[in-house]
Amino acid sequence: MLSRIFIFLILICTSFSCQETERKTPKPLNPNGDSELALLMRELQTNTSIIKNEIEKVNFDPSENSNNEYFAKLIESRHKLIEAEPSDKNLKSTNTYSNFVKMYNYSVSNFLDNNIKTNNYNNMINNCISCHQQFCLGTIATINKLKIK
Ligand code: HEC
Repeated sequence: MLSRIFIFLILICTSFSCQETERKTPKPLNPNGDSELALLMRELQTNTSIIKNEIEKVNFDPSENSNNEYFAKLIESRHKLIEAEPSDKNLKSTNTYSNFVKMYNYSVSNFLDNNIKTNNYNNMINNCISCHQQFCLGTIATINKLKIK
């Protein structure tokens, strides 16, 4: 429990954004306020890092964890990815964003439905990165840290 709080605090202290620049001012990170999608992404980032910690445990047992709230949140956020309002109003003007959402969502199902394996987990993170290569370069280094070596 303590270690979770610790991770959470680290995540709060790390500033996430699509820009590469260091931010000196506290929240909101975006001068126009944080978009729904940005908030959802931060939640995903925190949630995924908790999952990473879970599956890296030596005694990790997928059958005990598959109903865990953090795994359930992955499913929950799948619909929100399409619905949440982005900072960039043009994001959804083409099918590109929704195609990346589909690929990411597919990798989430694949991860959850096949015994929570490390390679499927990493594949899911690669799908976060693919979409970010298109839309949000600044956070890729942070997302890369979610990979399990
Ligand atoms: C389908 C595309 C897509 C996928 C998949 C995706 N992201 Fe994002 N992400 C974005 C976009 C677009 C933004 C910018 C959101 C905005 O500012 O409205 C963003 C923003 C972020 C941010 C910065 C939020 C902030 O505070 O401004 C983080 C962190 C992040 N994503 C992490 C992740 C992680 C971790 C995953 C995978 C578990 C992921 N993203 C999957 C498109 C995606």
